[in-house]
Amino acid sequence: MSITDKTVLITGANRGIGQALVSEALARGARRVYAGTRQPMAHPDPRVTPLTLDVTDAAQIQAAAGQVGSLDLLVNNAGIALYDDLTDRDLLERHLAVNLFGTYGVTQAFLPELTRSGGAIVNNVSLMALAPFPVTPAYAISKAAAFNLTQSLRALLAGRGVRVHAVLTGPTDTAMTRGFEIPKASPESVARAIFDALDRGEEDIFPDPMSASVADGWRHGVAKAMERENAAFVPPEPAAA
Ligand SMILES: NC(=O)c1ccc[n+]([C@@H]2O[C@H](COP(=O)([O-])OP(=O)(O)OC[C@H]3O[C@@H](n4cnc5c(N)ncnc54)[C@H](OP(=O)(O)O)[C@@H]3O)[C@@H](O)[C@H]2O)c1
Repeated sequence: MSITDKTVLITGANRGIGQALVSEALARGARRVYAGTRQPMAHPDPRVTPLTLDVTDAAQIQAAAGQVGSLDLLVNNAGIALYDDLTDRDLLERHLAVNLFGTYGVTQAFLPELTRSGGAIVNNVSLMALAPFPVTPAYAISKAAAFNLTQSLRALLAGRGVRVHAVLTGPTDTAMTRGFEIPKASPESVARAIFDALDRGEEDIFPDPMSASVADGWRHGVAKAMERENAAFVPPEPAAA
């Protein structure tokens, strides 16, 4: 999918990778960018429409869905990552509320529009969906679940003409990785790589040097082969009357 002349909604759009995705979508000629944020946001480009959107708030999700007319691309980017050691159940539930159920709730709300447009969903997951970094295990669990959700939605929505992409993002230089002294990609380069991969139709997107180093192994591995085999069990959509 090329972003030119498309309508895009990005959650967590006020900073980090989300902010970079907004700028990149505009640079590529998006017709309208809905910027979902928890706090009010202003943007100088008239193609940006701010949306109040806490992805854990069902009423705000419904209100946002009512404000957006047609939609070609939904980017579920909002996320939280906190240090833990799996001793705090509440903290695990907070990660699931944003990273899993937030992605799920926003997707369900915008699915009718995406189905109408034959659009696409991009879930900004994490490389940690494939292997946890045990300093943030609750985060890794929530991202593994969000990735699995992405894989099932991909199979379930294919018959409706909605494509579903996962971004297996590696370390990126945002507030989320502050304090980790490791090589990090810039959010701008990650945003460019995500839209480049969408242009090429890649269903699993590896947008930075660290994630790119495992892309081939993932794409040709047993887990990907099983995903494809299992997807064949989804019954085809009934033909339209
Ligand atoms: N940075 C990395 O290395 C990395 C690696 C892999 C994956 N990712 C993923 O990339 C995405 C963006 O992360 P980032 O690195 O850009 O981190 P970030 O700078 O911390 O940005 C997180 C964004 O999510 C928003 N957010 C948090 N909770 C929310 C909620 N309940 N409802 C709506 N928005 C909410 C934040 O809004 P507020 O300003 O209101 O808090 C902020 O806009 C996340 O899903 C993250 O897991 C990041």
